[in-house]
Formats: sequence, structure tokens, C-alpha cells
Amino acid sequence: MSNMFQHAIVRQPSKNLAKGITTASLGKVDYKIAMKQHEAYVYALQNCGLEVRVLDPLEDFPDAVFIEDVCLCTPHCAIITRPGAKSRRGETDSFANILSDYYKNLHSITAAGTVEAGDIMMVGNHYYIGLSNRTNQIGAQQIIQILEQYGMKGTIVTIGEVLHLKTAVSYLENNCLLLAESMYHNEAFQSFQKIAVNIQESYAANAVWVNGQVLFPSNHCITLNTLKAEGYNPIEIDISEFQKLDGGMSCLSLRF
Ligand code: GLY
Repeated sequence: MSNMFQHAIVRQPSKNLAKGITTASLGKVDYKIAMKQHEAYVYALQNCGLEVRVLDPLEDFPDAVFIEDVCLCTPHCAIITRPGAKSRRGETDSFANILSDYYKNLHSITAAGTVEAGDIMMVGNHYYIGLSNRTNQIGAQQIIQILEQYGMKGTIVTIGEVLHLKTAVSYLENNCLLLAESMYHNEAFQSFQKIAVNIQESYAANAVWVNGQVLFPSNHCITLNTLKAEGYNPIEIDISEFQKLDGGMSCLSLRF
């Protein structure tokens, strides 16, 4: 059975957004366009039936708009992470206060563990945790120990040269994954049905299934048509300004 989501938390872009970490060479970030794109993203989540809480920007943390990285929200508990990027570590300050409106069971990753939850993909009660430059073995083990306290499971996945696990793979429910070429043959995912992302459209491997719809980055027509042919209902959203900062569709929200 699919996980149904009720809530989302997003954080508005900071005026310093353009100072965020990036490896992309896609040009300068336009704050005004980013704000409009963020509003459209919130609207799409609302249209999927979610109650969306919009947090104020954190001007000292330009990457804080990528809120997915600072918390793993499960049906039983929430785990505040400890970002591997040192410039992002302060994004978790005060986050427990926000989460306490939704969760009784709150946990935190502690040193020397590092985790960014863009590296964690939920598949029912099983969580796949990618080891990356941002998420280390100690952090991944802490996540697994916490999940097991609530009857959930975790598996560590070795990933290649991508920012986060979910940069290259998304779970679309029904035992089906959307995968970039670099992740397609990963041993961890051999038991799934797989939809391949066109090699020229690898950015589209980060899509978000929400309550029967799929939030999908615009301008990736080949993969869009593949999804439609597979019976999905992709909703295109332009997030070009966030792509310039290595951010994908899932990075912009927590969904639970
Ligand atoms: N700019 C997003 C990140 O590097 O975490």
C-alpha cells in the first residue's frame, strides 16, 4: 500500500540564495524567479492534498531552502540530521521546535555522524541510505538504529559521483523506481521495476510521488512521456533556479 502524505514543510528562499553551494554551471540564480517558482511548488503540493507550512527564510543559510536535507520524517518519528556540508549545519537549529508540532518522537544525528536526508529514500517502512560526501557510515548507522526502534529498516547503498542518493533515484510507489543511468544497475535496486531516465535528462531522476501524482521538473519531455506511458500523472514544475544550485524537486520540501 502507498504512503499517503498529509503535511509538507517548506522554507522560503533566502535573498542570499545565489550564494548557495553549487557545482552546476547553469548561470546566475535569479531570486525573484526563484520566489515565483517556489510559490508554484507550494501550490502544487497543496493541489496534491497537503497542508503546507511555509517557514521564513534563513538569510545566513542560502541552502536552507533545500529543507529536505535537515530532517528524515517517518510515520513514527522524525530524525534531525547533521548536514555533511559545514556551511549547512546551522540549518537544523530550532528545528526541533517546528517538528514538535507534528511529532512526539524526535531524534538527532550526533557527531561524528553526518547525514543529509536527500541521501535517504523511503520505500514503505524500508529506507535506503546513500553514502555520499554529505552522509557518512556513522550517520547512516545512527539512522538505522533509530529506525529499528520503531520496527522500520534501513539499508546502506553505495552511490557514485552524485550529490545525494535521490539525485539519481526516486521511488514512485508500486515497487517502481525512476533511475538515472548511473544508478540503474546498482545492486540494491535489482528487485524493483525500473523506469530509466533518458541519459540527456538525468536531472529528471529526482521526482516526487505525492498521493498519486508525480511532481516532475519541466523541460524533460522524453522522460515525461515515458512516465505518462507507464500510467503516471506527472505535474511539471519549473525549478530552474534551484537546479542552478544542484537542488532537485524533492529537496524543496519535507513530506509526511
Ligand atoms: N546547494 C545544495 C547543496 O549543495 O546542498
